[in-house]
Amino acid sequence: MSILFSPLKLRGVTLANRIAVAPMCQYSAEDGFANDWHLVHLGSRAVGGAGLIIFEASAVLPQGRISPQDLGIWKDEHIAPLSRITRFIEQQGVVAGIQLAHAGRKASVWRPWEEQQGRVEPEQGGWHTDAPSAIAFDPSYTTPAALSIDGIKSVIQAFADATVRAHKAGFKLVEIHAAHGYLLHQFLSPISNQRTDQYGGSFENRVRLVLEVVAAVRKVWPQDLPLLVRLSATDWIDGGWNADETVALSRLLREAEVDLVDVSSGGNIASASIPVGPGYQTKFAARVKHEAGIASGTVGMITDPGQAEHILRTEQADLVLMARELLRDPYWPLHAADALHDATSWAPQYMRATSRKSPQRPTVDYSDNSK
Ligand SMILES: Cc1cc2nc3c(=O)[nH]c(=O)nc-3n(C[C@H](O)[C@H](O)[C@H](O)COP(=O)(O)O)c2cc1C
Repeated sequence: MSILFSPLKLRGVTLANRIAVAPMCQYSAEDGFANDWHLVHLGSRAVGGAGLIIFEASAVLPQGRISPQDLGIWKDEHIAPLSRITRFIEQQGVVAGIQLAHAGRKASVWRPWEEQQGRVEPEQGGWHTDAPSAIAFDPSYTTPAALSIDGIKSVIQAFADATVRAHKAGFKLVEIHAAHGYLLHQFLSPISNQRTDQYGGSFENRVRLVLEVVAAVRKVWPQDLPLLVRLSATDWIDGGWNADETVALSRLLREAEVDLVDVSSGGNIASASIPVGPGYQTKFAARVKHEAGIASGTVGMITDPGQAEHILRTEQADLVLMARELLRDPYWPLHAADALHDATSWAPQYMRATSRKSPQRPTVDYSDNSK
């Protein structure tokens, strides 16, 4: 038996295996609404047999979108189209999670494949951005306004309101996005956070907003459902947020009833140089797991079944999140089970394509799905 295909229990939710589809912006929504693209994209990966699918960064406020086409969860009308997708995912035996996000100073930019790049001006459908301090990410981005205390309170409330909507939409797991240079990470890093009030300066002050968001979310998120936080372990630059602080914050997150820290890195400093390569971030997940005593997830350049199995077997992490390899191959988990001489269940519709005796998933009645 491989560890990759062993279940992972997080509170009252059990993932069938340790493979998670990492959150990936699709920049394909209009006014934040999920549509057929999201159903087919995420649905394929559910058929492909990941244990967990985390929906892309979903904005808790419209000004928290990275691009105007980001997915959103800032109003009740967003719930119904999301529910359609969570239902399909659950019907495949896969857990549906959502990443709740606010882009802060990295908001209001063109999506990656547009000819035009950098900031979207207000007259082009963009907006003014907010951050801990009035420091632009780089010259091509909008210079943000420093959030007032009232502004910070409304961000916390927006995360809580989005969590209530996520529950109504059928999600069984919430991940708070505090990584990649977006708003919560901007507060953590002394480079982007130069406030002199209770939200800036010392470690205790810089982590305050993340902890307040976690507390507000945990309060409205059912006790039997897991809560994750994604952190960038380091800014990869002297004087920035660092791995020791990540471990210290992870201890506080454990006390705040977070169930797993999803450990990524970078994204807050445009000029940082990052030593990207296979498994380059696993050492940070290992530190969080062992030094903070909380379950960890690892992500980044994981592409091979043996590599994923090795990470788990050497206890560097409890969960493997994958992004680009699962774009290349939504059926990666089905192939990985074969490669590891293990078995994982296949949809009944696909059983004739299995090369060995794989268990069959239950037959699903889809007759209500169009309603
Ligand atoms: C198309 C795309 C969109 C992404 N969007 C998000 C996102 O919404 N939230 C997030 O935390 N990370 C996002 N990421 C980062 C991935 O979750 C992941 O951390 C990163 O791609 C490294 O993993 P990989 O080497 O397996 O691709 C995105 C990555 C890609 C390729």
